[in-house]
Amino acid sequence: MTPIVVALDGPAGSGKSSVSKAVARRLGFSYLDTGAAYRALAWHVLNEGIDASDEASVIESLPTFAYSIGTDPDDYFVRVGEHDITDAIREPRVTGVVSLIARVPAVRVHLNNLFRATMQSTPKPGVIAEGRDITTVVAADANVRILLTASEEARMARRSAELPTESQANTASQLRARDVADSRVSDFMTAADGVVTVDSTLLAYEETIDAVVEVITSRTS
Ligand code: DC
Repeated sequence: MTPIVVALDGPAGSGKSSVSKAVARRLGFSYLDTGAAYRALAWHVLNEGIDASDEASVIESLPTFAYSIGTDPDDYFVRVGEHDITDAIREPRVTGVVSLIARVPAVRVHLNNLFRATMQSTPKPGVIAEGRDITTVVAADANVRILLTASEEARMARRSAELPTESQANTASQLRARDVADSRVSDFMTAADGVVTVDSTLLAYEETIDAVVEVITSRTS
């Protein structure tokens, strides 16, 4: 049976990862975190001692990039080969170079093919994939396409709460720099035609989940 595909994009700190995971759990769907694949490749590049700004070397590393990801919202993991890097991919050294990796067109083509294969082979009735270009490139023909936004202030506050050891100012400037770098590659701040915007600025976490579930059920039932 062809799975229901839900594409969800948004900037860093919009809450898209935790919201997508919770929505997948509620609907009995798979959950695909595409940002984790870019992060895993960034980790792999660092682990191989490759200069992340050297596009040719990054492209050369793709054939040895043996990554796997858990798509069950209750069994989330990210691995490269034998290494479990679920936590390591969130470290500042990885976050600091991931935009360099994500801007390489051949990297995006390679990962997009993996994402599409993962989505089509889900064992569940549906899959929710989240990232920056899922609604526009990876699954532009998805059954439901959502842009999850939040004001910059709300996003900064949420990110700081996730990383209590980092100073607020530091977190804010890193987030802003990453948004600027990433928005050169995909426009994840404005909804493309047919994409429904859910603005979570004034919504609590559970309310955001309810709003996203409502959009999905109203379009698939
Ligand atoms: O969502 P995240 O912060 O884990 O994403 C990590 C990086 O990967 C982010 O800086 C942008 C990039 N990314 C992308 O370019 N396209 C996607 N579909 C998902 C993430």
